[in-house]
Amino acid sequence: MHHRSCASTTKGRWAGTEAWLPAVCLLAGCTREQSAVDPGGPQAEQIARLFWTMTGAGSLIFAIVIVLLALALWRSRGSDEPRPLTWHQSRRLVLLAGIVVPGLVLFAFVYASARIDRATTDGPPTATMTIEVIGHRWWWEVNYLDRDLKPLATTANEIHVPVGQPVRVLLRSADVIHSFWVPNLNGKTDLIPGKTNTAWLQAARPGIYRGQCAEFCGMQHAHMAFLVIAADPDQFASWLARQSQPAAPPDDAQRRLGVQVFLQRQCVLCHTVRGMPAGGKLGPDLTHLASRRTLGAGTLVNDRFNLARWLILNQSIKPGNRMPAIILPSEEFEALLDYLGGLE
Ligand code: CUA
Repeated sequence: MHHRSCASTTKGRWAGTEAWLPAVCLLAGCTREQSAVDPGGPQAEQIARLFWTMTGAGSLIFAIVIVLLALALWRSRGSDEPRPLTWHQSRRLVLLAGIVVPGLVLFAFVYASARIDRATTDGPPTATMTIEVIGHRWWWEVNYLDRDLKPLATTANEIHVPVGQPVRVLLRSADVIHSFWVPNLNGKTDLIPGKTNTAWLQAARPGIYRGQCAEFCGMQHAHMAFLVIAADPDQFASWLARQSQPAAPPDDAQRRLGVQVFLQRQCVLCHTVRGMPAGGKLGPDLTHLASRRTLGAGTLVNDRFNLARWLILNQSIKPGNRMPAIILPSEEFEALLDYLGGLE
């Protein structure tokens, strides 16, 4: 996954663009895969429509005010004597243009916002499935629940959903307040310690949508991203079936050494690999680590090179995260990489 950054061009021929770059970034949302004005589902569509209606109405009112101002200046040119309004005229003007019209416009927007807020948070009465998302500093635990709300599979920083079906998301926090936001699919919902909030996701078309923590939660708040991957229901079902399986046992000597390293060094204290005597809960479940697209909650593309970097240098890549540097003899390190890279 790549990110087109809007903030990396400041010198040379781009000098002087700083003033309008933020505006362009705001409008474009920087990328299509994370944008509130490129809706990928019915809830985001309503929000985007409200945004464009407000922007349009605001621009129209601004234009009317500027035209009236220009007219007033034009009519008063050349005359030294100001022509004041009568008291009655001023009173009527202030009442109408200063109170009644703005009041009506603002009321219409408040009403529309409240209606759309209702519609996007209440969601449909029946959910095809329920996913529990737990916010941690600074990553997302994702539990797929069955009809009795028992976990079927656990993953991290990646939420797979079937296209066209409403999915209920139960939001909890393990530590501080976070906020769950997938701009292409819905508005923000906070994750509050000791409370369960509900959000809805519904993707109208297959694709990868980027989500982001939207409530400042500490040093690595900006590196608390996740992906929502919407696929055809059949593809989703086979993905979920695979994720529900325990990890396959290692099939060669190198990976068997990797398991030993995993179980005898620090890894096992914090991480779970289902099917192994490894049930740590402090870090992400690694049962199907290699099937995920990113490492460190959207920080790095998940490949062998980045996995090695993450194991050794994670405190310089994402300072303050709870993972220590994993420094091992190179033979053990290679075996651990092979083992983790094979957890598909
Ligand atoms: Cu979690 Cu910001």
